[in-house]
Amino acid sequence: MGIHSVDRDSSGVSQPPNQPDDLALHKVLDSLSLRCVECNAVYPGFETTPRYRCACGGVLDVEMPFSLPAQRMPLPNFAAKAESDLTPLAGAPWRQLFDERAAMPPIWPLSTSTLLADRSGVWRYRELILPVPESEIVSRPEGNTSLYPVGLENCDELRKGHRQIGAFAGLERFYLKHEGENPTGSFKDRGMTVGVTLAHLRGAQAVACASTGNTSASLASYAAQAGMQGIVFLPAGQIAGGKLAQSLAYGATTIQIEGDFDAAMQLVEQVCNELGIYLLNSLNPFRVEGQKAIGLEILQQLDWQAPDWLVLPAGNLGNTSAIGKAFRQAYSLGLIHHLPRIASIQAAGANPFYRSFQQHFAQRERVQAHTIATAIKIGDPVSYARARRVIEESNGLVEEVTDEEIMLAKKVIDRSGIGCEPASAAALAGTKKLVANGVIRYDERVVAVLTGHLLKDGSTGVSQSVTGQVLEPTLEAVKKALAL
Ligand code: F0G
Repeated sequence: MGIHSVDRDSSGVSQPPNQPDDLALHKVLDSLSLRCVECNAVYPGFETTPRYRCACGGVLDVEMPFSLPAQRMPLPNFAAKAESDLTPLAGAPWRQLFDERAAMPPIWPLSTSTLLADRSGVWRYRELILPVPESEIVSRPEGNTSLYPVGLENCDELRKGHRQIGAFAGLERFYLKHEGENPTGSFKDRGMTVGVTLAHLRGAQAVACASTGNTSASLASYAAQAGMQGIVFLPAGQIAGGKLAQSLAYGATTIQIEGDFDAAMQLVEQVCNELGIYLLNSLNPFRVEGQKAIGLEILQQLDWQAPDWLVLPAGNLGNTSAIGKAFRQAYSLGLIHHLPRIASIQAAGANPFYRSFQQHFAQRERVQAHTIATAIKIGDPVSYARARRVIEESNGLVEEVTDEEIMLAKKVIDRSGIGCEPASAAALAGTKKLVANGVIRYDERVVAVLTGHLLKDGSTGVSQSVTGQVLEPTLEAVKKALAL
């Protein structure tokens, strides 16, 4: 099915649907609107020609009314249920809904439609993301990633390797949310499942993005699943090998361009508008809606006790925007009782957001980006305005870290047994710096997001002398190598 299969008259207005799922879908799509983050203009959420920007050039934000499924209206006995001071009452029916879905026994699905939505760490929260009928969802599924306790206090002896991370940061109650555990190895899958679901509802034949590697890998996978042509624009020679291999293997049309990510981004927007290809960068506001699920899943894993800080690497600023929005919405629905402060961490050589923050956002900065962390090598972030709002609303901040600090933090995460790609380690490097500077107190509860898997970029920082050692196959040679 899909909205594309519903007749439209010449004015673009849809004809009355006759299937129950059609009806539900129309209701959802009609309830969506897009608001410009710059000038507040409002547009319908679902027009015949997709809209990625306001007439003023500003980026757009999805707005929709939230409603619990009909059978979930607050029950009278909720008031009697024990509610700690930390979990406000108003959010109780929402928490119960999401907790019941998460607690579903792991029944292996016999067909793709069985329990698909509840098993996804994105679609479990569909009422807050995009409440389309389950039959329309394109999902692997994604999410349900680990939240590792790694602080000096919340990590026990059996995980002393992980505790090294808490010792490095100087934090007692510290968690790492590993988004590298998503199906294609990065957090991008959470936005992509929503973006490709929208593409399917539009009847899109082709979808495209510019990427520093992870968005393209994710798009390639989900487009292949949905039977669409995936087209990815990559800055030539600036993509980690594992990511390029994914795009090629999943069968995306892979176009490498001369120039950096910012040039590829400008080009893909033009290409999509001119050629009618559906754009799946986080300029597409529905991608941001999917990435909100990182924030929602963290809150649920912490039993709805919001952390004091959320620290994450920042490049194009889609994730800062999404997680901040999720926390704001969770707070306004009463799911949590306070807003975590958000700290966005940039590489010092790719730090336009940091530079703007230093001037209290008086001016939007752009830079020519240089960093070893290719995933965040971005000089002109698309979601600047959305992310600025998040930092201001959450009383958050933007910090920068050097490539040396990033690689030192990566080594600590890798040696602990958890592992991540270089850009992800910026979150730990930034956390350590903020604790050392007294901005984050050692006893505050902090979650840092690891955005990509170690194998995405397995070679950066790995010494060839380690991988290059070849021994004679004798016990003596091994004893010598082990210094025994
Ligand atoms: N970490 C990783 C591993 C990434 O791939 C990205 C972005 C970021 C952090 C930054 O997140 O852009 O939301 O601020 N990668 C994009 C891509 C740009 O094309 O894969 P952001």
